[in-house]
Amino acid sequence: MAGTKARILSFLKSSPGRWVSGEQMSREMGVTRSALWKQIASLRREGYGIEASSRRGYLLRKVADSFLVHEIQDGLATRSFGKGRVVVFPETDSTNQRAKELAAGGAAEGTIVLAEKQTRGRGRRGRSWFSPPGEGLYCSLVLRPGVAPAEGTGVTLTAAVAAADSLIAETSLPIRLKWPNDLLVHGRKLGGILTEVGADMDVIDYMVVGLGLNVNVPPQNFPPEIAQRATSLLMETGRTFSRVRLLQGYLAGLERLYATFRDKGFAPVLGRWKELAGVVGKEIRVEDPAGKQMTGKVTDVDVSGALILRGARGDIRRIVSGDVTLVETPKVLAAGGKRR
Ligand code: BTN
Repeated sequence: MAGTKARILSFLKSSPGRWVSGEQMSREMGVTRSALWKQIASLRREGYGIEASSRRGYLLRKVADSFLVHEIQDGLATRSFGKGRVVVFPETDSTNQRAKELAAGGAAEGTIVLAEKQTRGRGRRGRSWFSPPGEGLYCSLVLRPGVAPAEGTGVTLTAAVAAADSLIAETSLPIRLKWPNDLLVHGRKLGGILTEVGADMDVIDYMVVGLGLNVNVPPQNFPPEIAQRATSLLMETGRTFSRVRLLQGYLAGLERLYATFRDKGFAPVLGRWKELAGVVGKEIRVEDPAGKQMTGKVTDVDVSGALILRGARGDIRRIVSGDVTLVETPKVLAAGGKRR
């Protein structure tokens, strides 16, 4: 952000809830009142709520919630994620696609790509991700974990834990994970993570971790085909949330957890993932990428993030990809015919 505008903003931010005299600002910054007014008008166009009064001056009522790089970086508690290259599109097909191109061209770990709107937002397994303008968080982060391709699932699950925990801290909602990387509230889908990888046979060159989150989406805005399954933070709480703040919390949480993953592997993160998913011990049905279905009980999640499934005949399988559905266990009729 250019000098004068940035200084006006920090002036206003340093007096939260208080009017700041226009005369004082002009004097201290050495700009004319009309130059000041021009910059205030420009800030308003960017989404800042600034009240003006000829007697009292200016009052910052609302900080812009569009993805402005200086707002994202202001107060961002990370060392590298979001501190270097931050690319923001008002509209793009898919932030993951843009981030993959940057990563393939050598972009550093911690680079992020954001969009206000995606026209071809991608979900897992070739699905699309509903990405309306201004109501969601669409963020792709470039990572270079330097691990073998088989360990990539651990990174995705690490990101899912960071997303869930940062959202729980911010909203107090009972957010749960569904393997491998769905974020659910009350059984409905709030968000998801799509990781795309560029790798050699034996090592990952880059990973793009794409988070999609339904933030301020009102129920009537979801398309009918997902309206019954999807939810948003607005729908769950009746409140709107700052997407910038949610992004900052997620990046800070993920940077911490990713450092643990790099130092000690996925095992220390796995315990929290299991808690948030609550899937161990449950009967599930899995549809693999080829459409084949299997059912069984989840006996564990291993250190690479794979589900360990025991089939009805005691056969053990490792599930590394697919769609999981919980199987309702039939209610047992107790003596006297009452349902337990
Ligand atoms: C899922 O299917 O649950 C994963 C959805 C991931 C969507 C996000 S939005 C930001 C990034 N860009 C994309 O095109 N997809 C991911």
